[in-house]
Amino acid sequence: MKKVLMVCLGNICRSPMAQGILEAKVKEQDLHIEVDSAGTSSYHIGQQPDKRAIAKMEEKEIDISSYRGRQITTGDFDNFDVIFVMDDYNLRDVMSLTKKEEDKKKTDMILNKVYPNQNMSIPDPYYGGEDGFENVFQLLDKACDKIIEELAYEQ
Ligand code: 4NP
Repeated sequence: MKKVLMVCLGNICRSPMAQGILEAKVKEQDLHIEVDSAGTSSYHIGQQPDKRAIAKMEEKEIDISSYRGRQITTGDFDNFDVIFVMDDYNLRDVMSLTKKEEDKKKTDMILNKVYPNQNMSIPDPYYGGEDGFENVFQLLDKACDKIIEELAYEQ
């Protein structure tokens, strides 16, 4: 079974949304793919996703209220097959934890699935308004469709 880890800074906005979106698609298509998320920072360990992220996902009929923040560990590189980061800060921080070439290879910016090789970021919605969360949802939804397409093919 393939295991996918979604990573952002706080693990309360973008990566739990990415986890929820991918999990919903996995379930819809009855695939065997495990999904988790983590933050590069320790800021929100043990916390529920941001209320605005929960509300946006609820609007899309996906419940992420039971998720809790955690910080990425070096063990995650052994435990997951693919690691998707949201922006270039995440990429730098995650890459700094890698010990093997293989770990670097399994790490990519999630929007490279939609816009290959462009290293585009999912904008951090934390300090912005509500519309930031809709934008994040739309971008992640597109990226997760691609991820599902590729992983379903590999199964
Ligand atoms: P996330 O958003 O990385 O998408 O979860 C953020 C959450 C918290 C903070 C920054 C970004 N913060 O500075 O606490």
